[in-house]
Amino acid sequence: MSTDQPGGHLPPTSVPVFQARGVGKQFGDPRKKTGMRALAPLDLKVGKGELVTLLGPSGCGKSTLLRMMAGLAVPSEGDLQWWGGGFDAVGQSGRRLVFVFQNPTLMPWARVLPNVRLPLDLAGASRGEADAAAERALDQVGLKGFEQHYPREISGGMQMRVSIARALVTQPDLLLMDEPFGALDEITRNKLDGELLEWSRVRGLTIVFVTHSIYEAVFLSKRVLVMSARPGRILREVVIDEPYPRDDAFRGSQRFAAYCRELFGLLAEASSATRP
Ligand SMILES: Nc1ncnc2c1ncn2[C@@H]1O[C@H](COP(=O)(O)OP(=O)(O)OP(=O)(O)O)[C@@H](O)[C@H]1O
Ligand SMILES: [Mg+2]
Repeated sequence: MSTDQPGGHLPPTSVPVFQARGVGKQFGDPRKKTGMRALAPLDLKVGKGELVTLLGPSGCGKSTLLRMMAGLAVPSEGDLQWWGGGFDAVGQSGRRLVFVFQNPTLMPWARVLPNVRLPLDLAGASRGEADAAAERALDQVGLKGFEQHYPREISGGMQMRVSIARALVTQPDLLLMDEPFGALDEITRNKLDGELLEWSRVRGLTIVFVTHSIYEAVFLSKRVLVMSARPGRILREVVIDEPYPRDDAFRGSQRFAAYCRELFGLLAEASSATRP
């Protein structure tokens, strides 16, 4: 099912985890050639427990939008709200967000356990408390027994799991993920996608996920926002009307294929709208 109003289906009375109203981004001076409008003003709502995917051609502003959601970039216009308020309240209990990058960005000189413990060390948690939380997070991502390994001694998929454990250890409510599995082979990516759904269900997470993969978007998402560039905007929203939990049976189903076909068509439209 595809609509033009992202988040328009959310109940009007519930406070969204994240809301953007008329939010756009301009880089540099608009009057100069070097100026660049990365995002046209857009509206977006993300409800609690949703998994929303941003899908679109390179340069359409997916990372820019995600970085604004994380408070890592400031919009040029419009209004952003997290849990109905400003960014000052982000980080309080029930309002924690964490950003997961495409690369695991681990400290190569430190073992797995201190890598996962890092956010808690920075927050001043006691060593015992931080170790216990890091061990729990590693157990959750299937890396029990690898605490004393160095990043170079484990595979790329395992390094990404460490990176996710480091995100989960902060007990986030909102997880912002920028192509987290983009560098992995398809089998590993499928496995991590399945696990991500499980982790998010256990923790009641809200997730905004950037990907280039239509298959990944369909498998994971409650909603896929198809974006196009010049300037970046949300071209269409596709609701993946399929219950969770999802498994390989869904991946092999006619419904899955139909969603992928619809998104291939929309992405082709987005890419042609993107050409200079
Ligand atoms: N700090 C910046 N200064 C100037 N221009 C920028 C900056 N960051 C991004 N841009 C431009 O904004 C546009 C959107 O970039 P963005 O990285 O958000 O795209 P994207 O959709 O994430 O692309 P990709 O799929 O390749 O990661 C691009 O044209 C990019 O060159
Ligand atoms: Mg990007």
